[in-house]
Amino acid sequence: MSFSATQIRKDFPIFERTVRDGKKLIYLDSGATSQKPNAVIEAESNFYRFHNSAAHRGVHQLAEEATDAYEGAREIVGKFLRAPGGTSEIVFTKSATESLNLLAYAMGNAPIGNRFALNSGDRIVVTEMEHHSNLVPWQQLATRTRAQLAWFGVTADARLDLTSINDVITSNTKIVALTHQSNVLGTINPLEEIVARAHEVGAVVILDACQSAPHMPIDVKALGIDFLVFSGHKALGPTGIGVLWGRSALLQELPPFLFGGSMIEMVTMTTATWAPVPQKFEAGVPNMAQAVGLGAALEYLTNLGMGNVHTHELALTGYLLERLKAIEELRIVGPSDTDNRGSAVSFTVADIHPHDIGQFLDSQGIAVRTGQHCAWPLAKRMDVPATTRASLYLYNDESDCDALVAGIIGAQKYFGRL
Ligand code: ALA
Repeated sequence: MSFSATQIRKDFPIFERTVRDGKKLIYLDSGATSQKPNAVIEAESNFYRFHNSAAHRGVHQLAEEATDAYEGAREIVGKFLRAPGGTSEIVFTKSATESLNLLAYAMGNAPIGNRFALNSGDRIVVTEMEHHSNLVPWQQLATRTRAQLAWFGVTADARLDLTSINDVITSNTKIVALTHQSNVLGTINPLEEIVARAHEVGAVVILDACQSAPHMPIDVKALGIDFLVFSGHKALGPTGIGVLWGRSALLQELPPFLFGGSMIEMVTMTTATWAPVPQKFEAGVPNMAQAVGLGAALEYLTNLGMGNVHTHELALTGYLLERLKAIEELRIVGPSDTDNRGSAVSFTVADIHPHDIGQFLDSQGIAVRTGQHCAWPLAKRMDVPATTRASLYLYNDESDCDALVAGIIGAQKYFGRL
């Protein structure tokens, strides 16, 4: 099937509107959140329109339909990630941030003797390129358990520094949590070596796939990881829905995080026992409509073919990088070629503040993100106060990249640099 961004844009109603006095919308902020196709908007609204009821909580027809729709979405997610254990390995949360907090809190709840129990002799490893959602929960867990927090640094060419891998992932390491693809640099991390070392010392590997799962084929078994998280809204889905995938045996051993209805097996006035996974981690009435919307999003992506999405983005990223490299005084903050790199492209332009660039681009109808992108330590490491970030997706094409380049040159002129 031929891949046409022009054709794909027709499925996204937001591209019918204009911005800033009638200008065409050039949306280059999918790293923050993606736009939604009609199929997703309709799936979510049809759930409310025709099937709304509390899943897993009734014997009437609507409850049955809501349960089927919700569990159907879980099946789609399982297939999307190629989860070997199927639906029992898929936990719905409200966001990737919640998935990571679930892991950190659940591990913090682990009693002595449980494989996840941490103490002052243990180590948690992260990287200097994590966004705050995959850093702060681990800082907090380390503080609560007195475990040590260690991290892989980032090299000047925006790659993880693995030269001392055995000194970072030490024999007392219990958790290695890292991003698959940096939301700022676009760097795709070399998992094989990290996973091998982590497993050699008995640590679990938690992969933040927020910026990879929406953009490339994912096979959790082939990646060799133990847990993976991603958010629905970056993958064409609604807000308010996130995913946690974990190996069956590990999810079974992991204590619950949130307690309440639906996550129990039996309750007395003083005690409770837990439902099997994944229900053990899904206390309360779930985000059903959002899960159904995510199911529709992943079906839309699957129908296009994740390999095709990835190939399209790779070619477009290569095109954008070449065009940006030709701009005077522009520094790409991240790998400057497409080798192990995704489509988030951050840059600075001389000493023009990224917010000023962003605002000028907005005046031209071009939506980008500016700032530290929820990754302060990384901005410090790359020696930039902030960057402007263009993040591409399946509905972007070369004309969007050309508009961005013209916008940057316009900003240089506007701010007196040309
Ligand atoms: N959602 C954040 C981003 O825009 C982390 O990259």
